[in-house]
Amino acid sequence: MGAGFRAPYGYGGGMTEAFDPAKDAAARAAAEFVEPGMRLGFGSGTTLWCFLDHLAARVRAGLEVAGVPASEATAQRARNLGIPLLRLDQVERLDLTIDGADEIDPRKDMIKGGGAALVREKIVAAAATEMVVMVGENKLVEVLGRSFRLPVEVLEFGWRQAARRIETLGCSTELRCGSDGEALRTDNGNRILDCAFDDGIHAPRELERELNAIPGVLDNGLFVGMAGRVLVGSPAGTVREIS
Ligand code: 5RP
Repeated sequence: MGAGFRAPYGYGGGMTEAFDPAKDAAARAAAEFVEPGMRLGFGSGTTLWCFLDHLAARVRAGLEVAGVPASEATAQRARNLGIPLLRLDQVERLDLTIDGADEIDPRKDMIKGGGAALVREKIVAAAATEMVVMVGENKLVEVLGRSFRLPVEVLEFGWRQAARRIETLGCSTELRCGSDGEALRTDNGNRILDCAFDDGIHAPRELERELNAIPGVLDNGLFVGMAGRVLVGSPAGTVREIS
């Protein structure tokens, strides 16, 4: 992995779940946005799983909701917590999707995909009236891509061809491996290329389109113009909202 970039989950032996007061505070606040009868999208990642814990407490107290999970791991968590699930095909629209992010800039554009769930997360977010994002302060950046590499999901077939084309856009690429050292496979059966833009990403909307025009690319972790309310948790456990 290139120096200076934070590692996605695949490198560290899985998602760490040590209690993080900033994530927990943002997740608790997000759970308060949920109203009876809502159809929700559930993203993926440790912050989302904190959110599920808080939501489950409300469900046990009688709140009726159902959610569409964006990853198998999220589905498993929600099931274990007794939160009702739906398939995306069973709903016309979602009221809210709730998710974390790897980086978010002042325009609320984001890099996601640290947990390799970016394709389904984007589909679920696109089906929702609003995307509520929960982050700790450490995820706030001035310029995307300087401290976290952009994940791109590619088909296994011909992935080296896709990687070479991606590199012509000004980055280096690395095939993501899981904690077992083998190439990581997404829930969709594909590969992830982590793309290092050393000077950062200055035109995310254009880059998102250019990447997705490359044959073999399923989607990339740039979420541009998608975030609604953003809840930022601090290590002291306070939360501020950016709308
Ligand atoms: C998964 C994601 C996550 O939302 C992102 O990686 C943030 O994860 P965490 O909440 O564990 O910090 O995009 O694909």
